[in-house]
Amino acid sequence: MGFIKFICARIFEATICFILITVLPLPPYMEFTAYSVPPYMPLEGTLELNDRLNNAEHLFADLIKGPEAFAVYNGEIYTGIHGGEVVKIVNNSLVHVAKFGKPCDGFWEESICGRPLGLRFDKHGNLYVSDAYYGVFKVNVGTGLVTKLVSPDIPINGKKPLITNSIDVAHDGTMYWSHSSSDATLQDGVYTLFGDGSGRLLKYSPTTNTSEVLLDKMLFPNGVLLSDNEDFVLVSETYASRIRRYYLKGEKKGSTDIFVDKLPGLPDNLSHDGKGGYFVPLVMAADKDHPAINHIISGYPILRKFLVRLLALVEMPFQFIERFYPNYYTKRATHWIGHFESVQFVGPKRTTILRLDKDGKVLDSMHCLDGTLSSISEVIEFEDALYFGSPFNSYIGRIKLEKPPRISIRVKTNKESTAEMKY
Ligand SMILES: *[C@@H]1O[C@H](CO)[C@@H](O)[C@H](O)[C@H]1NC(C)=O
Ligand SMILES: *[C@@H]1O[C@H](CO)[C@@H](O)[C@H](O)[C@H]1NC(C)=O
Ligand SMILES: *[C@@H]1O[C@H](CO)[C@@H](O)[C@H](O)[C@H]1NC(C)=O
Repeated sequence: MGFIKFICARIFEATICFILITVLPLPPYMEFTAYSVPPYMPLEGTLELNDRLNNAEHLFADLIKGPEAFAVYNGEIYTGIHGGEVVKIVNNSLVHVAKFGKPCDGFWEESICGRPLGLRFDKHGNLYVSDAYYGVFKVNVGTGLVTKLVSPDIPINGKKPLITNSIDVAHDGTMYWSHSSSDATLQDGVYTLFGDGSGRLLKYSPTTNTSEVLLDKMLFPNGVLLSDNEDFVLVSETYASRIRRYYLKGEKKGSTDIFVDKLPGLPDNLSHDGKGGYFVPLVMAADKDHPAINHIISGYPILRKFLVRLLALVEMPFQFIERFYPNYYTKRATHWIGHFESVQFVGPKRTTILRLDKDGKVLDSMHCLDGTLSSISEVIEFEDALYFGSPFNSYIGRIKLEKPPRISIRVKTNKESTAEMKY
């Protein structure tokens, strides 16, 4: 009898707790409506598992953390790392290029350090960098001059562009860029897994220094890539396991469609494969037996609201203490709770890179099944090898290609590659 009473009392308390958390106006402030994501493509045919990415080399092991994106210029690879720096690799060492954040003690102070994500050169050798906390910048890598293009503090159509993520620059200098959320910063990126989509694809005009929204309410928009003749721009919508296309020219100008969906995981950045198609790394794998967490709960908005508020409630005491007694331990805790890095181990161990053709059909897939690569956000082909970036890894992955590719550097705005292509 006493036992049943005990159980009933606990159930009663849990219910009250659930109701209070979902009904009270608690942070984080986001919208919650039901949505669904269509079932993943099966892992067969061009998606059949293979081990082509096994035995990856680890470059700069433990010297680098989170080389998320790459850009190549004058035969040198540039990347952005934890601590907020943009660096280039010269003679096997890392050389400082730029930093937009403030001095900080370590990666757990990411919001102070800054976190460069997207990098892209234009045809004049200006490096565009998207820093998740500080906005989008243009850096002249020759003179070191830095110009701010987008500020995360200035709302666009009433919403702040938080988690500025990826960029691509057209020939005329127009920049297409994504920010992944309007509700949370990268530090609390996990929160965005629970809310409705609040990210956007935008178009920045260098003549007016303003941005126009092309697509909104997106589920974590990420990699942005212009097609070769700039007739459309692709944007991966990470949490929807799909890539959207926005037309810039022709009859469909201004309209959008789905380039590909049902991807077996969460797509991150996009790059050209050098053959008219695209590379798509899946930063987290998912399949019928291992669905992504946000796909499992997408149809239950009240549960999503409860879970994310619970997470925020767990973080709150640490933030409170941090405000009055800033110290190492609460900094580590507030960094850890809600950061993507804390959940990178969920999901199947497979790492997958897809190759799509010019129309979005899956041509080929490469997999790593031995764990030598994980959480890959970007792949580039450079000097007969593939280089793999990641938001978390403490190395740059590399796999040598058997045959050197015809064009060794596939960055269309790069001086050297255009020169090479003339031969
Ligand atoms: C890189 O190393 C080579 C050979 O050791 C040297 O000739 C070259 O000057 C170095 N380049 C830089 C930028 O340090
Ligand atoms: C996406 O990939 C391109 C290269 O195709 C790179 O320039 C850009 O920095 C990457 N962006 C992100 C956010 O990874
Ligand atoms: C462009 O606009 C941003 C606001 O989004 C501002 O911070 C920046 O200073 C402006 N840049 C120039 C060159 O005017």
